[in-house]
Order: sequence, then C-alpha cells, then structure tokens
Amino acid sequence: MSAHDDPGTTESLVGREVELDVGAVAHGGHCVARWDGRVVFVRHTLPGERVRIRVTEGGTGDRFLRADAVEILVAAPGRTEPRCDVSGPGGCGGCDFQHVELATQRRLLGEVVSEQLARLAGIERDVEVRGPSGDQHADGLRWRTRVTFAADDEGRLGLRRHRSHEVIPLSACPIASPDLPAVLDSRWPASRVAVAVSSEGDTFAAAYDVDGRLPRIDATGLVADGRRVAGRTWVRERVDAHEFRVGGSGFWQVHPQAAATLVDAVRRMSAARPGERVADLYAGVGLFTAFLADDVGPSGTVLSVEGDRRGSADARRNLHDRTQVEVVNGDVAKVLTQRAEQRDLVVLDPPRTGARARVVRAVAGLGPSRVVYVACDPAALARDVATFADVGYELVDLEAYALFPMTHHVECVALLAPVG
Ligand SMILES: C[S@@+](CC[C@H](N)C(=O)[O-])C[C@H]1O[C@@H](n2cnc3c(N)ncnc32)[C@H](O)[C@@H]1O
Repeated sequence: MSAHDDPGTTESLVGREVELDVGAVAHGGHCVARWDGRVVFVRHTLPGERVRIRVTEGGTGDRFLRADAVEILVAAPGRTEPRCDVSGPGGCGGCDFQHVELATQRRLLGEVVSEQLARLAGIERDVEVRGPSGDQHADGLRWRTRVTFAADDEGRLGLRRHRSHEVIPLSACPIASPDLPAVLDSRWPASRVAVAVSSEGDTFAAAYDVDGRLPRIDATGLVADGRRVAGRTWVRERVDAHEFRVGGSGFWQVHPQAAATLVDAVRRMSAARPGERVADLYAGVGLFTAFLADDVGPSGTVLSVEGDRRGSADARRNLHDRTQVEVVNGDVAKVLTQRAEQRDLVVLDPPRTGARARVVRAVAGLGPSRVVYVACDPAALARDVATFADVGYELVDLEAYALFPMTHHVECVALLAPVG
C-alpha cells in the first residue's frame, strides 16, 4: 500500500507535526486518525488517545499519510511502558504493540479481525482473541523461537527499521527466546543470519550470502569470528506424541505453544471421523496431517500437499509409517486440478497472501462437508471467506489466537460448511 497517488503533484509532509485525536485500530499495527480530510495511519498509539504525530510518509496530494505518535498528550487505558529500547517511533519494525498491555493487545486484534470480516466479507461478528494454550510467556516476552536477523555493512546483526532496509544493530531482542543460538555479539560476513531453537532443545543457525542462496553451514556448525555457534541443519519439534523433523529453512510456528494450540483448534473444528477422506493443503512438514491421520485412522485417507520441496521431504520422513497419508509436493492450485477427488474435510493453512479465488473454488469443488481454514492474515481470510460464500460455503465458527505477542499478527481458525 503506497500513500502516493501522484508523486508529481505531492509536496512532502514528512517531518510535519500536528496534534490529533486517535480513532479505531486498523490492520497493520496502527490506528486511524484524520487530518484535513486525510486518513493518517498512526503507529505507537491507542484508540481514544490525543497525540502529537510526526508524518513519516506522504504528502499534500495523497489520500492517506503514515505517522508516528511522538508525544502522548492524553493516554488511553491499556498503555504501558515498552520493554524494548528500539520499539518506539523511528525504531524497529518487529513489534507494533510494545506500548500496549497484553489484554488490550488482544482486544485490539479482535477488533481488527471483526473489521476485516465486516468490510471484506460482509460478516458482522465479535471476535474474542485468546492466548496460546498453556502459555508460559504470559508477559509476552522471550517467546520467539525462530528469528532471522539482518546484517549491516559492518556485519553487525539486528532487525530492520520500520518500513526501511536500514538495520538497527541489536545486542538483545526481548521477544526472542533466550535459548536461541547467541549470534548477536559477533560480526557476520553475511546478509542475514537465521536462528531457531526447537521444543526438544535443538538449535539451528545459518548465515546467508548477500544473494540469499548459499547457507554457510556444515554438519559441524557455523563459525563466526572464529567461534563455533550452532549445530545441525534441521531440528526436532514435538507436539504431544508426534515428533517432526523441520529443516532450518522450513516452516514451523514461531511461538512455542502455537503448534499445539492450532492442532487443538483444527481437530476440534474439523471433528474428523474414522474412515473419512481428508486433504491437508499448505501442509508444511505435516503438522496437521499427523493428527488428522490419527483421527481418520487406517481406513481413512489424508492427502498432504506442500509446495516447498524440502518441506515435503521432511513431511515424508515424519509421516512414513502412516499408510493412510499421501504426501504430494507441488503448488496447491495445480495439485487440486489433478486430484479433484471428493473429500469429506479440507484443512488449509495458506501463507499470508491467502488461498485466493482459484484455490477456494477448487476446494469447494471437492465437496467437503467441512472446511477448516487456518489464517495468519485476517484480510486474506476475509477475502477468501467472501469467495467461499460465492461458491456456497458459509462461515460457521471462528477462533482467534494471539500467537505473536507485541506484534499486530493474529492467527485465526475458521470453520466453513455448505450453506443450509
Ligand atoms: C503457514 S505455513 C503452514 C504449514 C503447516 N500447516 C504448519 O502449520 O506447520 C504455509 C505453507 O504453505 C506452503 N506454500 C506456500 N505457497 C504454496 C503453494 N502455492 N502451494 C503449496 N504450498 C505452498 C509454504 O511452503 C508453507 O509451508
């Protein structure tokens, strides 16, 4: 989304300061204010506050501007002291809500999901956002088990400034797990360094060259400043009785309780029965597939579709003893055209862009009595729910979870079923 309608006729307003009353929260970690008929998306504030804003993007010819709240004139309930020195105006883009108490963060996330459903799918629904089940990080800190740090020109690691490529060097990140490999105190001849720690205590670290293609890692680990930093190229994750091998670059939820929370929600909503035919789309290394296979038993079937080659290879390893599971590597849209077989249940967990119309129509074409849609972006979910309505599926239930404390990200699990 760009603020620039016509750069030719726009006089920059960047740096201008003005006092404004702040309105509702909007998707993306900011709130909406108005100035001279323009919408201003203001970060670091809360609905109901009066703040001095400083414009960070946009000009006189634009419909909307971006801004930071640089002085809080009237604070709203729910405001708190940030636990990070670089989270404020002009700072790191990683956290949006360091200045907000956790309960208020969840209320705001619920308002965002409701607003997206109303605006994009025409559905009026109050949404309550819950924390992860059995949350051991009730202060919203030290939870992040996977982080990719960027390196600046001097090889110092950090995170990028909000809406910028500039790297803010860090000595610590308060939302990162203390059990991650300690890479921040070294200089790295790389463009980025990815680290992970698993539920089983395995650690992973990889440094990537500027072109992003060559992980500098071998079986014995990385060397930075002549010091060994981390171990292997994959980690073991455990959820209940199931163990998963996850390649360092493969997808796994970043909050330690997220995978179990989502498995629980997916199983409850999908209520898969022995003998049913199921498709698990965007399946990663097979997290939901493993539990759905338990639920349908040996007389059922689970088609597990994942686009990433290494993700599918891990899924094959993780699920090799489940005869009812078929792992297919490929683009979901293409696979569904080749495998248009009837299904009782479809579970889908697409990336941030959503499934989009072609996949939604293909899913409906499989004739499932339930569709369980796991969504990391409420706007994409709402757009896809609207497409599902066009093909005869309605939203029956929706749960939302705050699995990324301090950020604007929220995970939804939606149940859809044929109308009537
Ligand atoms: C949000 S992750 C979900 C993974 C898995 N369900 C889990 O919970 O661990 C989305 C997955 O979709 C895969 N993906 C993205 N686009 C895809 C596509 N067009 N076709 C197949 N898989 C795709 C990604 O590689 C990623 O593993």
